Amino acid sequence: MSDLPWWKRGVIYEIPVASFADSDGDGKGDLRGIIQKLDYLNDGTASSLGVDAIWLTPTNASPMRDFGYDVRDYYSIDPRFGTMADFGELLEACHERGMRLMTDLVLNHTSEEHPWFVESRASRDNPKRDWYVWRDGRAPGKPPNRWVSVAEGSPWQYDDATDQYYYHAFLDFQPDLNWRNPEVRREMLNVLEFWLDKGVDGFRLDLINFLYEDELLRDNPRRLGRRPYFWQHHIYDRSRPESLEAARDLRGLCDTYPDRALMGEVCTDERDDAVAYLGDGSDSLHLSFYLDFARVRWSAERFRESVGWLEKHIPAGGWPCYYLNNHDMSRTFTRLGGGRYAEARAKVAAAMLLTLRGTPVIYAGEEIGMPMSKVPRRVMKDPLGTKYWPLSHGRDGARTPMQWSAEKNAGFTSGEPWLPVDPSYAHRNVEDLDRDPDSLLNWYRRLIRLRSERLALQAGSYRVIEDTPKGVYAYLRESGEQRIAVLLNFTSRTVTFAKQMDALYGAAWKTLVSTHGAEGEPTPHGGIRLRPCEVLILETSA
Ligand code: NOJ
Repeated sequence: MSDLPWWKRGVIYEIPVASFADSDGDGKGDLRGIIQKLDYLNDGTASSLGVDAIWLTPTNASPMRDFGYDVRDYYSIDPRFGTMADFGELLEACHERGMRLMTDLVLNHTSEEHPWFVESRASRDNPKRDWYVWRDGRAPGKPPNRWVSVAEGSPWQYDDATDQYYYHAFLDFQPDLNWRNPEVRREMLNVLEFWLDKGVDGFRLDLINFLYEDELLRDNPRRLGRRPYFWQHHIYDRSRPESLEAARDLRGLCDTYPDRALMGEVCTDERDDAVAYLGDGSDSLHLSFYLDFARVRWSAERFRESVGWLEKHIPAGGWPCYYLNNHDMSRTFTRLGGGRYAEARAKVAAAMLLTLRGTPVIYAGEEIGMPMSKVPRRVMKDPLGTKYWPLSHGRDGARTPMQWSAEKNAGFTSGEPWLPVDPSYAHRNVEDLDRDPDSLLNWYRRLIRLRSERLALQAGSYRVIEDTPKGVYAYLRESGEQRIAVLLNFTSRTVTFAKQMDALYGAAWKTLVSTHGAEGEPTPHGGIRLRPCEVLILETSA
């Protein structure tokens, strides 16, 4: 057992609450559903997944037009998900088994139905007017500037009643709070305090680099890009220095409670932005997502380059955080492709995620290889899907119900599921994969267990093994006497290499874990042979 804090040592598991487990038959997942599935996540034995922390997508009262990322009341639990007592029970149940619970905090915007915004839009002199970002148009019928929203289109929404525009970095029903107003800042710190007092172990901070915009609303410089959002270089509407300062304030408050953590969603296509939120490891966020990694296409070289960049640029004392997918993007199993090698690729990706230096975040369903589902237009729920269909199919495909068994509705609900269950549930489900020792699920379990047993994997240094054949990504994790080599064959060919390993501490390597068997065996002197998509995790000691 290491003395690293849990958020460095452990594995975080993202739960899309509405899609995980439904306890009351209303077709939507809920908190009691999660309580019923805690043994699956961690029952303290090798037969459970063994994750250390869960992160719940937003559970506050919400009109649910954006999966809960449109909050109506920060100090509540939405009745669709349960009650505050259920939340307390879930928190206690997690703590009893040594797990942590992180919740999602949407600090950048509220729902347009939030009473603050209802007041704010009522009149120009309402006391809550300045809680949101209101501006005059630059000319009749023209929004205040030419910014483009992350969700595309102008981020300015004209409001007839008071003849001004309000700003929304995301969708028009998600007005941005005005963080320049000290009352807003104070209120949001209160929200943090409220949940910290309840005992939550940390927060995932939605759009943390969007809290502030340029005060002068200067237009962004133009650039080339694949869609309108990328036609601008977003220097004035995101990642402003004031957002970093706010992150420091949040950290300051968080540090007055023992052992809590902040994990920022830094939404950007600039690598530098993510590391900026890691400060020197103590004055900014504990973790921040490295989106670049989640966008890499299937290639050993590209993953190695992406990780290498982060390792090089992360501030001293900062800590990496990796994920392969989440509720906003195509599920890994589909995105990584591979046809008949899809399962094998998913195993390679899992091994990489769970053995790199940094905290891994798994998205529920990834461990059973749930694909990106094709959700028909008529049942689509995601506003990005309905708005841009057929150009975009939105994010519903990543949010279909968790596949627990081959029973009706994949064992997710006894009612009518809010999104259709993906047909793959007939063979891709927890119950069936649990029985197959070689399944992806059992592979995740073994890797998570290995990680928890080896300090080198939790805390060790990271060093690339150079000069490996094309399509191989190989690295060392070392801590004190412990040396672990992770060899990942991204190709569907057999590759051999020898010198590279022999040069590293001789040939006394023993196989710890392998996708293709041979565990516990010493590797033969002078030869490493990796079969198509093989993963070998080897160990030697000084
Ligand atoms: C990022 C969240 O992950 C996404 O689901 C949400 O729609 C936007 N932020 C807006 O809150």
